[in-house]
Amino acid sequence: MKRVITFGTFDIFHIGHLRILERARALGDHLTVGVSSDKMNHDKKQRYPIYPQDERMRIILGLKCVDEVFLEESLALKGEYIRTHKADVLVMGHDWEGRFDEFRSLCEVVYLPRTQGVSTTDIINQVKTYA
Ligand code: CTP
Repeated sequence: MKRVITFGTFDIFHIGHLRILERARALGDHLTVGVSSDKMNHDKKQRYPIYPQDERMRIILGLKCVDEVFLEESLALKGEYIRTHKADVLVMGHDWEGRFDEFRSLCEVVYLPRTQGVSTTDIINQVKTYA
């Protein structure tokens, strides 16, 4: 069985999120998703996600293409997560191109193209203009 792993915040779930998860799953037989914690997002962007981590995890786990979900609590633990979940393939969006090549010693690393024209940040900014 080929096991695939990917990571992300997946806040305000949108079509770009669904498409990358479906394509990640199609690369193997089992997909594990590390959903980044509220704290990790706050540390990186100085704001909390709109949807709290428990809800983001439940939404991802509810998808047909996802087999398993866990909370990603630190960027520094990526290698550990890959090992623990016995991943054969790490999938990342091409916005991360090259940044995870160090894990090629642990598994195959694949960068997939992002879906054009949609992002959580754009959605938040668009909704703000309605207020
Ligand atoms: N992703 C994608 N296409 C998009 C948006 C995201 O393929 N249009 C992928 C990212 O490359 C990543 C995963 O979805 O692998 C989770 O991305 P995330 O950062 O949570 O979503 P964004 O919409 O990019 O959020 P933000 O605008 O806050 O960066």
